[in-house]
Amino acid sequence: MKGIILHGGHGTRLRPLTHTGPKQLLPIANKPMSQYALEDLKTAGITEVGIIIGDVYPEKVKEYYGTGEKFGVKISYIYQAEPKGISHAIRLCKDFIGDDKFIVYLGDNVLRKNLVDYKKKFESSDSDAMILLCEVNEPQRFGIAELDKENPGKIIKIMEKPKNPPSNLAVIGIYFLNPKIFEIIDNLKPSWRGELEITDALDMLMKKGNKIEFDTVTGWWKDTGTPEDIIHANKLVLDSIGTENQFLVDEDSKIKDSIVIGSGTEISRDSFVTGPAIIGKNCKIGPSVRLGPYISVGDNCILKNCNIEESIIMADCKINAKTDLSTSIIAHGSEIQDNQIPKKQQFLLGERSNLKI
Ligand code: G1P
Repeated sequence: MKGIILHGGHGTRLRPLTHTGPKQLLPIANKPMSQYALEDLKTAGITEVGIIIGDVYPEKVKEYYGTGEKFGVKISYIYQAEPKGISHAIRLCKDFIGDDKFIVYLGDNVLRKNLVDYKKKFESSDSDAMILLCEVNEPQRFGIAELDKENPGKIIKIMEKPKNPPSNLAVIGIYFLNPKIFEIIDNLKPSWRGELEITDALDMLMKKGNKIEFDTVTGWWKDTGTPEDIIHANKLVLDSIGTENQFLVDEDSKIKDSIVIGSGTEISRDSFVTGPAIIGKNCKIGPSVRLGPYISVGDNCILKNCNIEESIIMADCKINAKTDLSTSIIAHGSEIQDNQIPKKQQFLLGERSNLKI
């Protein structure tokens, strides 16, 4: 079985963070979110992975994942020139997939239970597709499945972001498919948003008499479309530190209670970290810093005099300011400093910046 990770799209709701790279490379607990997808596929025994790259800095994806060797998999890159939908992206993989069953994983979805059992179930079943459902609070935001009231083990309809959802069961972005889907996609019409929807393909597959089964997600699942979703996913992943479900951390990092600290990182005696937290390599924390809970700090950061909680500070940032930050995302290489004399502020802010002083 091969795996496909979708790594395209424009990530407009995440601007300005996505002005400089694809959203799937944004870090959650110091790891690009799509790496969780890759690790899930690898843990399920999938070693041949196709990554669909789009037109937002695709070279950054290739630079990070390379041939896949570092991650124990073989990666092929498939280029999607325009973001025309999940089904369109899947159709581009026909030759790569060949005749076998396969798994499609949206690179902006994070699932904390691994895929091992789901993959075994699909491998041994005669279904043409398997989807995973998860109860959500805002069903209008997702693909939704409607189950048969008389026979709740049966799906009767799959639809994309309905205005009046018949259920709160979201179809999450991990799809178990076989090559029958390619012919279905060839007959699909674009939706109102101009995309070939995966939900329409699944619905048509079912309406043509093919068998679709489902499983429900235990634990949590997160689609990281907005900054709030990313902060929330960061919290959920950090909560797993020290549990049997803990995410994979660098071998040379130290884990103490619920805090992960990278090699070469120094924390001054008058600074304090409250877990769950992860701090990358070669950081200098202090003097007078309070970090956490729920903070991810990337490699090579220099933090002085600040209090930060529930936030993501990416690599190479410098903060030297008596400031209290909460629920913030500070992208790579940013600097924040007090400008005390004269008491004037100077800003250079990207599109859609959000500054609360
Ligand atoms: C896509 C799918 C939707 C699914 C969601 C999961 O939505 O179209 O059916 O529920 O991913 O993350 P999009 O992220 O394109 O809005």
